[in-house]
Amino acid sequence: MKSRAISKWIPWVGLLSVTLGSHAGAWGEEGHQIVGTIAMTRLTPQARAAIIELLGNDDLAKAGLWADQIRGDSKYDWAKPLHYVNAPRNENSIVLERDCAKGECVVGAITRFLAVATDSTKPIEERREALKFAIHFIGDLHQPLHAGYADDMGGNRIQVIAFGDMKTNLHALWDSVLIHHKSQGDWRGLAKALETDMPPKEVAQWEGNLDPLVWGNESRAITRVIYSDLPADAKIGQQYYESNFPTVARRLAAGGVRLAAALNKTFAAYKPAIKNDDRAVSPVRSSTDSPADKPADKPADKPAQQPAPIPIVIPAVVPAPVSAP
Ligand code: ADE
Ligand code: ZN
Ligand code: ZN
Repeated sequence: MKSRAISKWIPWVGLLSVTLGSHAGAWGEEGHQIVGTIAMTRLTPQARAAIIELLGNDDLAKAGLWADQIRGDSKYDWAKPLHYVNAPRNENSIVLERDCAKGECVVGAITRFLAVATDSTKPIEERREALKFAIHFIGDLHQPLHAGYADDMGGNRIQVIAFGDMKTNLHALWDSVLIHHKSQGDWRGLAKALETDMPPKEVAQWEGNLDPLVWGNESRAITRVIYSDLPADAKIGQQYYESNFPTVARRLAAGGVRLAAALNKTFAAYKPAIKNDDRAVSPVRSSTDSPADKPADKPADKPAQQPAPIPIVIPAVVPAPVSAP
């Protein structure tokens, strides 16, 4: 990790010290929304059009949450191992044959789902879900502990106490707690600050590396540092936050930049299936997902679910690409 560069471009760490409420989840809702928000500002018009066609809107912050919202639905149990990649403790790097057999890990899933999202031979619902999975998993893979160790479930089994009295675990600390300690719930503000402070050289480096295996190995390297720097008494205080938040910030920023770059590349040759005029549903930003089973600890700062979500009716009307070259 280049901690020198990190501390230079995040000048505002360490300003807050309020104890958190009970936010926990995967890269957490705030993390995924920040990644999606950063990505949204960087889409090419073509990628944006393709995303609107598939999702009904270009709200990547919201789309990135779906893969966690369906976790309680047994229909999607097959997707549970796709949120992470683990490698043995003594290994520095991920080896796909060993750690991601048959592409059954977050690294393989990203490539596969991006391909499905643009595959016009697939049913539209499958493509839509594939896009939402890909958006979420690109975020996940930038959370260092999503490239962790199987024996403690990526740090989920390591109990820590944060900021005096908050019982949590190492994974949740990095998914949510450190982010929330900074944002205090204003994830939009934090996304904006990250966008503003991104150094162009780092951005170019992130964009130049669009191989999910590289992202996973970056996370893996950070994971090793996280374990070696873990306080023996498992007490996480302001000092830990101040020295580690720059890494969190950098991974969120890299995740957002790469999400946009990956989508821009994926949809670069994408031909819209329907003209805007023929669109069945206009691309408004509204709640279009069905409210899936949510864990009981759903954060309270979310807007109320709409009672009867309007289904997107996009390309029932997509013409089958029979004559496409
Ligand atoms: N479950 C098992 N390993 C995990 C990891 N690295 N991240 C999240 N959940 C996990
Ligand atoms: Zn997680
Ligand atoms: Zn996840």
